Amino acid sequence: MRTSFAPMEGITLYCYRNAHHRIFEEGIDVYYTPFLSIYKHHSIKKRDIREILPENNSEQGIRIIPQIMANDADEIIWALGELHSRGYDEINLNMGCPVGTVVSKHKGSGMLEDPERLDVLFAEVFNDKITRDIKFSVKTRLGLVNPHEFEDILPVLNKYPFSSVIIHPRVRT
Ligand SMILES: Cc1cc2nc3c(=O)[nH]c(=O)nc-3n(C[C@H](O)[C@H](O)[C@H](O)COP(=O)(O)O)c2cc1C
Repeated sequence: MRTSFAPMEGITLYCYRNAHHRIFEEGIDVYYTPFLSIYKHHSIKKRDIREILPENNSEQGIRIIPQIMANDADEIIWALGELHSRGYDEINLNMGCPVGTVVSKHKGSGMLEDPERLDVLFAEVFNDKITRDIKFSVKTRLGLVNPHEFEDILPVLNKYPFSSVIIHPRVRT
């Protein structure tokens, strides 16, 4: 069994994760960072960079999976390459954030409103050779307002070799 530490924006920051790992030692197999915002011009917010710097994640034996927030294949491919070059071996995509300003930009759970667009997006991402070098996983909700939306989302996710699909079994609302 794998025990994962869920991300919480503004709460489970590197100091929290390090303190948790120091106290509970072997209790957690992997810690997810809260989402790092990926910008269109290929950069990560300065505040978010602190979450992935090696010196902030150097507790003995701590395993970190950075989570990203992006909805564009080019941005995701860039982020996979950037984080791979920084030594990470898996990246998780946030498809669950319910916050209005995020959803209105079709990010987080806002990505779930159009499964056909998701299909096009993941086809492009998995067509890039970077996905052979680094694992790519998603954390998703069941849908925006109705859990039956997942009946159209799951077949799309099943088409692609995600290293894992984490389901937060609620809808956005
Ligand atoms: C304040 C807060 C911030 C969160 N931030 C993130 C986040 O950055 N990324 C993410 O995938 N989930 C985030 N979550 C969701 C949690 O990781 C977790 O999946 C969720 O809280 C568990 O389900 P529940 O709170 O609906 O019972 C956040 C949740 C809370 C309460």
